[in-house]
Amino acid sequence: MTIAFVTSSAHGAFDADLPLLVAAAEARGAGGEIVVWDDPSIDWTGYEVVVVRSCWDYLSRRDEFLAWAASVPHLHNDVDVLTWNTDKSYLRQLEAAGVPIIETRWDVAPGDDIGDHAEWVVKPTISAGSKDTARWGTRDEVWEHSASLVAAGRSSMTQPYISSVDDEGETAMLHFSGSFSHAIRKGPLLERGEGVRQDRDSRESITPRTPTPAQLEVSEHAIATACEAIGLDRPPLYARVDLVTAADGSPLLIELELAEPSVFLPCSDGAAERFVDAALARA
Ligand SMILES: Nc1ncnc2c1ncn2[C@@H]1O[C@H](COP(=O)(O)OP(=O)(O)O)[C@@H](O)[C@H]1O
Ligand SMILES: [Mg+2]
Repeated sequence: MTIAFVTSSAHGAFDADLPLLVAAAEARGAGGEIVVWDDPSIDWTGYEVVVVRSCWDYLSRRDEFLAWAASVPHLHNDVDVLTWNTDKSYLRQLEAAGVPIIETRWDVAPGDDIGDHAEWVVKPTISAGSKDTARWGTRDEVWEHSASLVAAGRSSMTQPYISSVDDEGETAMLHFSGSFSHAIRKGPLLERGEGVRQDRDSRESITPRTPTPAQLEVSEHAIATACEAIGLDRPPLYARVDLVTAADGSPLLIELELAEPSVFLPCSDGAAERFVDAALARA
C-alpha cells in the first residue's frame, strides 16, 4: 500500500507537511512518496491513494491542473471538489445556505456601492497566497483595483477589511474526513497602504490555537454545506476552514480550503498520523 503525496516542482521544498506525512505513512507500515503532479514519468495507477497537497503552481494553469485531476484514480480531494473549490464564488452557495461569510460584493465597477467602511479588501475569485489581493482605504482605490481585475477577464471580490485580523489574526480549523484535528492562528497578511503584492508569506506567523465552540460549529456547517453543494456522500479527506471574527464576536468564514491547503501538521502532535489514517481508510 503506497500513498502518493502530490506537490509541484517549485513548491515541494516549502511544504513542511510533506516529510511528516511520509514518516507517518511509514510508521503505519505503508509507503509514502512525494511526487510532482505534472511529472510525465509518474504512473498514477501505481498508488492506492493519491493525495493533493502543495500543487501551488495551478493558479496560472487551472484548466491543465483540473484535467490532470480528472485523469488520476483514487485522488483526494477529487476533481469535483477541486473544481468547485478553486474559485471563491463557492462562497455564494455557502452564504445562501446560512454559513456566515464576510460581506462580499462581486465584480464591483467604478461608482458601485461598496458599503460604509474604513478599509476594504479587493481580491480575485481565483487566487491563493493573497496574490493580487490588497487592502485599501479609499473608494477610488477599491474601484480601480476591482475594475482592473475585471478588465483582465477575472472576477473580483470586495469586502470590508475585518479589523480584528490585525490583533487576533485568523483561525484555521483542520478537519480530516470530517473530524476536527487541530487549529492554528495565522497572523495578519495585508498591511495598510501596501497595495498589491505577490510575495507575501504567512508561514512564519503560525501558532497553535484552541477553537471556540462557535468556531467548531461554523466549521462543521461549512463542510456539511460544501458536501451538499458538490454532491459528496462523505466529507472530503482534508478541509481547512479559515475563520475571522466579526465586530460582534461571532465567527465569519473567510475561505473554505478543500484544494491545496497547508495543514500545519508541525503544530499539533499526532496530526500527521490522523491525516494518514484518514487517507489509508480511503484505500
Ligand atoms: N476581508 C478581509 N479582512 C481582513 N483580512 C483579509 C480579508 N480578506 C483577506 N484578508 C487577508 O488576506 C489574506 C488572503 O486572503 P484569502 O481570502 O484568505 O485568500 P487566499 O489565502 O486564497 O489568497 C488572508 O489570510 C487575510 O490575512
Ligand atoms: Mg487564505
